[in-house]
Amino acid sequence: MGLSIGVVGATGAVGRKMIEILKERNVPIDSLRAFASQRSAGEKIEFKGNEITVELLTEEVMKDKFDYLLFSAGGGVSEKFAPIAAAAGNVVIDNSSQWRMTKGIPLVVPEVNPHTLKGYKGIIANPNCSTIQMMVALAPLHRRYGIKKIVVSTYQAVSGSGHKAIVELESQLKDEAYPNQVYPKRIAGNCIPHIDVFNENGFTKEELKMVYETQKILEDNTIVVNATTVRIPVVYGHSESIYLELKEAPQVAEVKQILENAPGVVVIDNPEINGYPTPLEIANTDDTYVGRIRKDLVDPTALSLWVVADNLRKGAATNAVQIIEVMEGMK
Ligand code: A2P
Repeated sequence: MGLSIGVVGATGAVGRKMIEILKERNVPIDSLRAFASQRSAGEKIEFKGNEITVELLTEEVMKDKFDYLLFSAGGGVSEKFAPIAAAAGNVVIDNSSQWRMTKGIPLVVPEVNPHTLKGYKGIIANPNCSTIQMMVALAPLHRRYGIKKIVVSTYQAVSGSGHKAIVELESQLKDEAYPNQVYPKRIAGNCIPHIDVFNENGFTKEELKMVYETQKILEDNTIVVNATTVRIPVVYGHSESIYLELKEAPQVAEVKQILENAPGVVVIDNPEINGYPTPLEIANTDDTYVGRIRKDLVDPTALSLWVVADNLRKGAATNAVQIIEVMEGMK
């Protein structure tokens, strides 16, 4: 028998991708329901040749029986509706930041910490898009060498801010006068070192997510993480420049070998033939790509890497669907 799945925020950038990936990965589904706000209730979504009518999200519908509910409609919606769905016995995979740091709620990257799903029922958190790709690339190195410190700068695509942000970038590229609605400054032809709100310590909330989610996923609160997150005028695919300090001095050849054998990682590292990943080239794929692997010039325990992944896929929708696959595999 197939699964009964609901997608909350089904008309958004990530919600649409979730439906596409459920189809693509051939998840066995008997019933797929789509939920959104009043704005798009009644719209039609195509799924495997059938038309699905988008339903209004209400407390009552969350009490229906689902095998999995995939949420991507923002933190406020998850705060209110995920506990109702979980109390009704449903497994919720939540893409918002609402429940990620809550004790007892697994924060899962399937390649890294699938053990946290064993026997679990309730709300499961999908990590932040930038954290997911960093974890896929760094967890295998953490296992081998132990990570002491991570300094990361991100180059994040506008699709991470939802459908409206894609429209804003594409419109500004054609029209000098198109106003800034999603971003505080013009995004076309620019880069903005400001993702989510500023905290009083000077970091943004996006930067702090990368700190605390990394420590939770790697189960090590001693790892020092320093992040600067930047929005750039790219539609799909986040890139990260990562500097790492390890507990043991690594050899580059071994680092490459570890990453080549790591699940979900593809190494592209031939600088002499321009072999390094870029977002435009890897968009619409599910792996995490690593290039520019090099040792620090002074510190023998330090390494630099360049990590790129499709933020809507591995950074959000694919990761959520992989959680379903892992849980089904554990049954
Ligand atoms: P809607 O289409 O009705 O606005 P994005 O991140 O691309 O902006 O998408 C956000 C998604 O979350 C959309 O599907 C949106 O639905 C949905 N959403 C936003 N607010 C609510 C709400 N209060 N109740 C249900 N769905 C919501």
